[in-house]
Amino acid sequence: METKIYDGTQLVEAAQELKKGNLVAFPTETVYGLGANALLPDSVKQVFTVKGRPQDNPLIVHVASFEQVKAYVDNFHPATEKIVKNFWPGPLTLIFKIKKDSLPSIVTGGLSTAAFRMPDNTKTLEVIRTAGVPIVGPSANTSGKPSPTTAKHVYHDLHGKITGIVDDGATRIGVESTVIDLSDPTADPMILRPGAVTKEALEAVIKKPVTIDRHLVQADETPKAPGMKYKHYSPDTRVLMVENDDWEAAVEWAKDQHFRTGVLAGPTIVENVRESVAATYMYQDDSVTAATKGLFAGLRGLDEKKLALDLIFVQVVPEEGLGIAYMNRLKKAAGQNYFKK
Ligand code: TXA
Ligand code: MG
Repeated sequence: METKIYDGTQLVEAAQELKKGNLVAFPTETVYGLGANALLPDSVKQVFTVKGRPQDNPLIVHVASFEQVKAYVDNFHPATEKIVKNFWPGPLTLIFKIKKDSLPSIVTGGLSTAAFRMPDNTKTLEVIRTAGVPIVGPSANTSGKPSPTTAKHVYHDLHGKITGIVDDGATRIGVESTVIDLSDPTADPMILRPGAVTKEALEAVIKKPVTIDRHLVQADETPKAPGMKYKHYSPDTRVLMVENDDWEAAVEWAKDQHFRTGVLAGPTIVENVRESVAATYMYQDDSVTAATKGLFAGLRGLDEKKLALDLIFVQVVPEEGLGIAYMNRLKKAAGQNYFKK
């Protein structure tokens, strides 16, 4: 099949394809999603097939309004209203207990809960509204690879396998949404996956404590979000994290090993090491925001076969605020491995 690229004037066509049951990738503020009509089990099954995704990993249901969620959920956590008012549309996914059998079990992975998100992208909201149905959307990459932050990345992984891609340029944030569990109305909200909406931002809004799934802190715990346990974000090339004081030693060592080395970092680090390595991918500036936005694109760029790199060194950032989400994805890409002197 020929995969079509839809621009802003072809959103009705994209919506009609989705409604009919075909797969169309869509832009969001975080990463591109692989869309299918959430109410058609056969279409949802296709999503797992084309991504190569394990079927026990449930999908996020994308909606164009909070009203739309009420068709599937009747028992809301008391913090829901404040959270929705402050963070939707936006990079925050909410887990609720759903009305029995209100969504196909292929969507929920057979759980009694489901994940909902209203993405902050006008084209995609228009598509969901026009389709008139909720749209499931995992990240639109081959399972295990870095999530796509441009339509080109989606095309690279999925062309020939899906009907189309709605193109809206590069995504603003660069890592997937924060996932919080609101399924037990009597429990404190719990962050299952870190993203751009931080624990501090949530607590400031609801004025109550927000907890963090223990496995995000302790490596040996089993995560509550099924997807967090899989190998993720990994380029074929070996990735090593480099602490800020170790760049000189890291580059020296790689030279001694006769490695073809790539570097993914902000301008300050890149300027210092550029002469000594085979390839660099520079974040737009030295901020954590720019690093987060460029992480997946950089990993993909440096993983290209034609560069034939042996190794990619990547900058670390402090684990606070948005840095928690950046480091969570980077650690997975690096298999937890740091360069050690
Ligand atoms: O930013 C995002 O969230 C992107 C864009 C496209 O919206 N989507 C995305 O979807 O990252 P995906 O499928 O790659 O990640 C969904 C995560 C997985 O870790 C999954 O296990 C978890 O949400 N999840 C989904 N339903 C759940 C549920 N009922 N209970 C716990 N975790 C759930
Ligand atoms: Mg994903």
